[in-house]
Amino acid sequence: MGKTLGMDYAPLARALAEQVRAAGTPDHIASLFHRVPRHRFLPDVMWGEDRTRYDRAADFEGWLRAAYSDEAMTTQLDDGAEGGMGLPTSSSSAPSVVARMLTAARIEPGHKVLEVGTGTGWAAALLAELLGSRNVATVEIDTDVALRARTALHTAGYAPEVIIGDGENPPMRPDAVHRVIATCQVARIPWAWLDLVRPRGLVVTPWSPTPGAPGGVLAVLERLGRGLGEGAFRGSLAFMWARGQRRPAGVRPGLGAAPDRTDHVEGDPREPWLDGETSLLLSLLVPDWRHGMGMEDGATEPHVWIASTRCGSWARYHADGRVEQGGRPRALAEEFRVGLDWWRARGEPGVDRWGLTVDRSTGRQTVWLDSPSAPLWSAHRPSGVSR
Ligand SMILES: C[S@@+](CC[C@H](N)C(=O)[O-])C[C@H]1O[C@@H](n2cnc3c(N)ncnc32)[C@H](O)[C@@H]1O
Repeated sequence: MGKTLGMDYAPLARALAEQVRAAGTPDHIASLFHRVPRHRFLPDVMWGEDRTRYDRAADFEGWLRAAYSDEAMTTQLDDGAEGGMGLPTSSSSAPSVVARMLTAARIEPGHKVLEVGTGTGWAAALLAELLGSRNVATVEIDTDVALRARTALHTAGYAPEVIIGDGENPPMRPDAVHRVIATCQVARIPWAWLDLVRPRGLVVTPWSPTPGAPGGVLAVLERLGRGLGEGAFRGSLAFMWARGQRRPAGVRPGLGAAPDRTDHVEGDPREPWLDGETSLLLSLLVPDWRHGMGMEDGATEPHVWIASTRCGSWARYHADGRVEQGGRPRALAEEFRVGLDWWRARGEPGVDRWGLTVDRSTGRQTVWLDSPSAPLWSAHRPSGVSR
């Protein structure tokens, strides 16, 4: 039964399950990776994390090995449009990442789970194998992707409900599930998710304060009351963004503008942004910004630019020690300097000491360090809208 075109996938699946188990995943989750054949959910052409193209027809063995590697496999580019920039828009997530999310969700027998972001359907199959298909629903915004996943699920013997629609607002009654597990990243936790999970239920999702800020975290929020969710982060985790929350296109503030103020510092001021972990923490320390790299005329090294997402303020960090800022009303470089000093004075607390409270009654998402009673900053969004 494990043989496909002469090569047996079963030893590859077993090795993947072993790898996931060795990384500390509990047995009942790790064994799913052996029991659910990932390759049956993958298209004939897909791309690995370094953009390697795997083509089932041209190199079946390479394609099958990739299916059982611990790598995310991109399965759709540019929302399926022809001639785009080649941006990944759908995938089968990396097995170790799925294992982390399933473990963090603390799923118990009899639980009902909604997955947001069906993708290939593979993670929904893992859930169906764990809980039985009737306890699993999955919602996908892209019709073609959803239809392919539905077929793959049925072919592999699973029948969770596959809903085609916007997972930020799924057509389900309140208290319908014990867990919402999102496999697309959000900055605004949809209020609907807090309504969907039962009291003490969990929302498990990749989260970042702003689309365009570096990386993200795995947020695990417990529903503590109507429209109230709270929990600590479980390490860093970055995903494809939910369609409605992608970073907006358009010209960034400060592009080509002369600075209002220039400081000169010792060393390379770009360093915090060039280090993945520190830049992620900067996104927790200072709200509402996005960043990128740019090249000044005549420069030999790129600079890091920062742009506020709520006003026209900006900053630029150059390899030669220049720190420029401009625009009003924020003094962004100053915000980062104060934030980094504050963080360093506290011994550089890592991601797992931070957490999030989402409260519809105040319309606020609040980031805290160590305890919800020590809020750091809060972002407001209208409490009336369901998203
Ligand atoms: C990383 S992939 C999902 C991986 C999938 N769970 C798997 O393991 O095969 C993210 C998926 O989320 C979908 N998506 C994005 N925004 C969505 C939304 N608002 N509602 C539902 N699905 C969404 C994308 O179309 C994409 O297929």
